[in-house]
Amino acid sequence: MRLPVTYLKPGMKLSKPVYGNSGELLLNRGIELTTKYIKSLERNNVVVVDVEGPVPLDEMEIKEELSVQLRIKTMKKLHSFAKESNGIHIYEFMDSVEALLEEVLSGKGVTDHLVDLCSSDLYTFAHSVDVCVLSMLCGMKLGYDKEKLLALGIGAILHDLGKTLIDPEILNKPGKLTQEEFEVIMTHPLKGWQLVKEKDGDALSPRSKAVILNHHERYDGSGYPRNLKSNQIDPFSAICSVADVYNAMTTDRVYRKAFPPHEVYEMLLASGDIKFNKDVIRAFLSCVNPYPVGTYVKLSNGKIGCVVSQNDSLPFRPRVKVIPSGEILDLERELSLVIESVLSHEKIKELFYA
Ligand SMILES: [Fe+2]
Ligand SMILES: [Fe+2]
Repeated sequence: MRLPVTYLKPGMKLSKPVYGNSGELLLNRGIELTTKYIKSLERNNVVVVDVEGPVPLDEMEIKEELSVQLRIKTMKKLHSFAKESNGIHIYEFMDSVEALLEEVLSGKGVTDHLVDLCSSDLYTFAHSVDVCVLSMLCGMKLGYDKEKLLALGIGAILHDLGKTLIDPEILNKPGKLTQEEFEVIMTHPLKGWQLVKEKDGDALSPRSKAVILNHHERYDGSGYPRNLKSNQIDPFSAICSVADVYNAMTTDRVYRKAFPPHEVYEMLLASGDIKFNKDVIRAFLSCVNPYPVGTYVKLSNGKIGCVVSQNDSLPFRPRVKVIPSGEILDLERELSLVIESVLSHEKIKELFYA
């Protein structure tokens, strides 16, 4: 499970090695964390690391960092809304969505503190918060005002609520789903929509509720549950569906590894006006990076390096720090160079530290 460094506690074990910005090995896989190690990760500006085993939501102590604090708080509220029959009222977590929106408007980076939790329930709640933030960022690019952004965010944060009513064995099945199992999964938009109507029918605008029902519809009519097409799909749902696919594909799941962000970016770029509305795709892709900071890449001149910063106008041409020389190559200027491939942390370890 991936955790922000602010959530680490002594005794947790690393499930993947941690590298610094220049590609140097900071801590190896299997190491048991101590206070000293955690401090050294903070000193080296490491944001997230992978630790063994799931950490229950209740054990997550909320610390200073606003984004992470908000994410966990919102996840907890979402959990009680979904799980407890006399749980919190929808208005209570509208406040959290509003606070998330304030962060989005203040320009805080969405990719900085993604809480990527792989255990069943936690995945759905962390994913919901991330899809909410990504949807609001995209809405902002499309020029939405605050009221619209809030309505979009509320719909997006609830989009997968129906999954809490699906058998976890099917939801988290490691292998391929049977047709019958897939049909069960396909009931979650309608189940979520009905659940919200029963619980808090009047508290949400019809547009927010439509996101829950329509987020698996596709521009070409190939989605579910109603096979809606192009303009039949409301813009809020169209935005949420892109954010949903992007976040789900770039996250490790029990049945597959995460796809690298640049592959998902290119897949979305190629799918405009087939599966998704191309204006929404264009706005969405301007909010995310194909090569986030920390990605290890092989360049066309054979050099290997780590992405250290972005060039906003040319997302495929970031600045790369070469390993081991430390030379910085700005691909915005080095036009003869391209990124040839993305390398895993394991591959870097094998090449430089074996
Ligand atoms: Fe869904
Ligand atoms: Fe989803």
